[in-house]
This record gives sequence, C-alpha cells and structure tokens, in this order.
Amino acid sequence: MKLTVGNPVKGERFWNREKELNGLIQLLDEKAHVLIIAQRRIGKTSLMEQAAETIKDRYLCLQIDLQSAHSVVDAIAELAAATRNSSLWEKITGIFSNVLNNAARQIDSLQLSELKVTLRTGMTEGSWQAKGDQLFDKLAESDKPVVIFLDEVPILVSRLLKGSDYQMTPERRGQTDAFLSWLRANSLKHREKIRLVVTGSIGLEPILRQVGLSATINHLTPFSIGLWEPTVVKSCVEALAEEYSLTFDGDALEYFVDCLGRCVPYHVQLFFQQVRTVCVREGLTHIPKTLVAEVYEREMLARRGHAELSHLEERLKLVLGPELHPIALEFLTEAAVTGKLSAAAIQVFCLEYKQPVVIAREILLILEHDGYMYQQSNTYRFVSKLVQEWWRAQYSLLFVPASARGK
Ligand SMILES: Nc1ncnc2c1ncn2[C@@H]1O[C@H](COP(=O)(O)OP(=O)(O)OP(=O)(O)O)[C@@H](O)[C@H]1O
Ligand SMILES: [Mg+2]
Repeated sequence: MKLTVGNPVKGERFWNREKELNGLIQLLDEKAHVLIIAQRRIGKTSLMEQAAETIKDRYLCLQIDLQSAHSVVDAIAELAAATRNSSLWEKITGIFSNVLNNAARQIDSLQLSELKVTLRTGMTEGSWQAKGDQLFDKLAESDKPVVIFLDEVPILVSRLLKGSDYQMTPERRGQTDAFLSWLRANSLKHREKIRLVVTGSIGLEPILRQVGLSATINHLTPFSIGLWEPTVVKSCVEALAEEYSLTFDGDALEYFVDCLGRCVPYHVQLFFQQVRTVCVREGLTHIPKTLVAEVYEREMLARRGHAELSHLEERLKLVLGPELHPIALEFLTEAAVTGKLSAAAIQVFCLEYKQPVVIAREILLILEHDGYMYQQSNTYRFVSKLVQEWWRAQYSLLFVPASARGK
C-alpha cells in the first residue's frame, strides 16, 4: 500500500474499515440520514469518498466540502456546483438562469471557482431558501437516489453562529437555525430519494447544544468511526513496509505499534513516513528498533510536522471563543502532564478563570465528543497516547499543575 499523509485515501490506499464502510452503506440503503461522529484525522473524508466510490453505480453521489463556505448562500452554491457533471445539471442551471447565461451553462467555459462565484451572485440573503428548495426538488428528480456527502459542516455552522468576532448575536443564531431547519425539512421531505451524510473535523452536536439548536439535527442517525486497534496498525505498517521493500528488525515492528497504541490512521502513516525518510537518507533496507525509538522522540513528539495537532488549538478556539479557549488548554495540559484531569483540578481552573463549573462541562463535552479525552469515573484522560505525549512535550514547560496552584 502506498503512503498517503494528509489527503483523503480511497481505492488501494484505503486500509481496513470494511465494517465501517459496509455499515455506512447499509444505513444509506435503509434511507437513513447520517451524522458521522469522530475525531480529527480518523478518516471521515476518506470513508465518505470510499463509500461514494463503492456505491456510485447505484446512487448519484455529491461530495461537498464546506471548509471555505462563510454563508448559507456559499453552501447552496457549493451544492449546486457539485451537480455540474451529472445529468441533473441542465435542470439545475434553470434555477440559476438569472445569472447563468447560455454560454455559462456550457460547463467547460467556466472554471469551477468562477462557477461557484456566479451561482452565489444568483442568490441573496432573502432568496436562498426558495432557490435551495428548488435545488432539492430537482435533485429528487434524479433517476438514481442521491447521496449528499456534506463535509466540514460544523465549520460553516460555527461561522454562521459566531462570525469572525466570535460574538453570537440573535440574528446569527436565527440564521443558523434557518439554515439547519431548511436542510432538515428538505431531507425529510425527500427522504425517498435523497440521503444526507454530514460530518466535519469538529463535533457538530456540542456546538448546537450550546445554543439550543440540537433539534435541527435530530433526524440524523449517529455513526461513529473508532481508532485503529494495534492489530490493524500492525497490518497497515506491514503493507507499507512491503511496498517500499523495508523490513523491521527483531521486535522493531512491535515497538513501532506500541509507540502509537490505539490511534488514528493518520498517525500510522505519518510515523511510517518519517521512519522511511531516515531509511532512504541512510540507505537502510532494515529498520532497527533504535531508529524507530529515535524517530518517535525526535519527530513524532515535535511541534513541526504536526499541523493537525497544532490545528486542534485553532479549532477549539473557533468553537469556544477566546474566553473559554485558554481553560480548555489548561484542562488538556493538566491531563497530559499529570496523567488525568480530576474534578478537583477542574474546580481550581474554573475558580482561577472566574467561570462557573457548568462552562467546564461544556468544554469537557467538546473534548470528549471530539475524541481527545474520555471520562472514567470522576476523571478525564487522553484517548491517544501519542496525542498525550505530544501535548506534554509542547506545553509542560511553564505549566503548574492544579494541585500546586495558589501555593
Ligand atoms: N482507511 C485508511 N487507510 C489508510 N490511511 C488512512 C485511512 N483513513 C485515514 N487515513 C490517513 O489519515 C489521513 C487523513 O484522512 P482523512 O482526511 O480522511 O481524515 P479526516 O478524519 O477527514 O480528517 P480531518 O479531521 O482533518 O477532516 C490520510 O491522509 C491518511 O494518511
Ligand atoms: Mg476530513
């Protein structure tokens, strides 16, 4: 299996996950709308792409990434543009005839980015709903049933709710409600013909719970994707090593697997890539255990090369805003440094930041939901050994544990 570090994988690069793939397809066949809940880098986008590839003869699959959408109008333009290579395009252009002239309807004459810009200009804050309804009506006329894979929905929802100044206003909440309720109404109306699969790299539920909008997604069936167990990690590393004609010495492979523990597939690929880089540089075809240990310490626990972990901070800030974000960092660092986040420690931090304990609960729900921590009796711990060790390596230097604060 060829290495892929970062981009979604499908086909021969897609390892394992048969159970998840079959489970997701079965839900779609049962006409369910689905909410994929899982942590960062676990392979949500890959699973959606592989599912689309697998069912493309039976369904019209539309893959939409809302990462760069800032408004409802952007989201609808993305959805409309996603139909451009399908038999529905002619009908869809009819909805946007106010901005798409005959030349523009010939898709080849427009770059995709231009097309989206043009589609956006065809809607206003007041007209998106009617255009969006027509869009769903046309999608429902498709010969095959339609699956709309909506990626990065929580990013759009966060932006709708809080704008770029992290201030939630009643207007913004109203707009978010209007968008999600519209999506819900259309997916229920067209249930026979259209299914939605919703996901994103931060949890949608905690965001909506904060603002009392959970009901807008209660038609979605939750579907989770778990961490890879060590046996899967091992088989994946063996396949990668074989591809690049590398062999592990003695118990070096077991050591590699132990370093990661249960983990996200991305970390397996990243670790192997770093080991391989050293092998190529030093002309090695055998991988000694010392090399694995060195690469783990030097590369896997380093700040650079871990954009996705650094990104965790930014995403937490996006969801929590500048006031609550520092408390979340304290929670994570406490758990990383001392091995656990206890109820007593939570109280110390809340007092220090002058926040009620109910706020801590919200933060913990997000950290738990997004797969960073899990609760065991009255304490929280990191889910991933690697993420904990990485976090400790980054943040332990000036950190004072809760038990020593105020002394
Ligand atoms: N089934 C898989 N087989 C092999 N590698 C995988 C698999 N799933 C994920 N990966 C690894 O994880 C990386 C990220 O995958 P993907 O983009 O699908 O994850 P994601 O959960 O959508 O991430 P994000 O949280 O950033 O949206 C891939 O580049 C690859 O290295
Ligand atoms: Mg993704």
